[in-house]
Amino acid sequence: MVSYQFPSGFQWGAATAAYQIEGAIAADGRRPSVWDTFSETPGRVLNGDTGAIACDHYHCYDDDVKRMVDLGIRHYRFSIAWPRIIPEGRGAVNEAGIDFYRRLVDCLRDHGITPHATLFHWDSPQALEDAYGSWRDRQMAYDFADYVTAVVQRLGDRITHWMTLNEIACFTHLGYGVNQVPPHAPGTVVSQPKDVWQTSHHALLAHGLGCQAIRAASPQPCSIALVDNFFVPVPISETPEHIAACQKAFSRLHSNGGIIQPALTGQYSPALLEQLGDQAPDIQAGDLAIIHQPIDALGINIYSGMYVRAADTDQGYDVLDFPSGYPRMHMPWLQVIPDALYWSIRHISDTLDRPDLQLFISENGCAAQDQVTDQGEVIDSDRILYLREHLRAAHRAVQEGYPLTGYFVWSLLDNFEWAWGYDRRFGIIYVDYASQTRIPKASYYWYADCISQNRVV
Ligand code: FCB
Repeated sequence: MVSYQFPSGFQWGAATAAYQIEGAIAADGRRPSVWDTFSETPGRVLNGDTGAIACDHYHCYDDDVKRMVDLGIRHYRFSIAWPRIIPEGRGAVNEAGIDFYRRLVDCLRDHGITPHATLFHWDSPQALEDAYGSWRDRQMAYDFADYVTAVVQRLGDRITHWMTLNEIACFTHLGYGVNQVPPHAPGTVVSQPKDVWQTSHHALLAHGLGCQAIRAASPQPCSIALVDNFFVPVPISETPEHIAACQKAFSRLHSNGGIIQPALTGQYSPALLEQLGDQAPDIQAGDLAIIHQPIDALGINIYSGMYVRAADTDQGYDVLDFPSGYPRMHMPWLQVIPDALYWSIRHISDTLDRPDLQLFISENGCAAQDQVTDQGEVIDSDRILYLREHLRAAHRAVQEGYPLTGYFVWSLLDNFEWAWGYDRRFGIIYVDYASQTRIPKASYYWYADCISQNRVV
């Protein structure tokens, strides 16, 4: 019998992000982010929802930390809101904004929970969008680095696990490149693919400058990671020919060759550059060296994947469509492919040839149609099924010797799911937004058992 036991020291955690849970958008000197503006614009977010109150975590953080303690996690990933720290994007630091994170981090540490801070999870200051179009301008990378310096100088005595940016493709390509109604994310929609690639190039630069800023400002040794959600080709069957087809597909799928590849290898994928031709971003001398900073770990956000098979075509593979009845969680893009977690790890270690790089799952989870029963419970057995299969895939990777060090479930709480507002619930704790009551779901208790036994139960 396989017991799915993890090695001791495996890091069990949960993840959230500032704009999705904090609320308190005008408290203590915070100024608007692009997500405040976007969500306040009619027609942008489902049901007109905004992050103005969200889970009110800004005021309830100590209760939320108590629930983390009961859950048994020793690691918590959250994000720091740039518009709380430097409300105008550049210039004066708002010490009251720093104080909130100091209180949160001290509370975590007092309870034996290690804080893992993401420095940017999409809520950039609106002032910079107004000043120069945020990620459209190279200046954004330098302003980001100054913000990072301000944070790490003040909080680096108590935080040693840093992540620079969350999911570059999402806040650049989906914000600036997709002219859909309703739009998916804030950003001035640009007309040329080149301009879209320029935004992600600037974000890569921000990552590199951010790494340098953390190393320079941290008063103690620390760990620096990038968090990405690259596209994961999964072999339709695990035979050498289909595996080789997936490896070929990896750099060519969507933005992989222009985001994760340069970040980890210092080079854009030649195949992608050829495909983009004159639509490739402008890359200034020295940029790639800045982007290719040594990092201590890579955080992988994994929700789904795509099946690929070997094919007798020029490219040597086919990406397969999902049949209409394929199992899916409560999001249009959330097909259930637990093996994608395992293959995400292999593609970094093997395909990109970075077997040295420590990996952790910085997000994994799903939306489900949760309901509170008459007994006041939420029995999300579908979420348990989803999470259990993904944790088994994580176990397989560890078992085979891949450097997977931890797992953060997305998310601790139901929260503001971007353009879907509060309509989609990803938490293992149910939030009744009207009363701000929290109800731990069945998946919370199941996850607590996994953590206490250090295995998949
Ligand atoms: C990821 C985001 C996270 C959350 C999940 C569902 O792309 O990083 O904030 O919205 O998706």
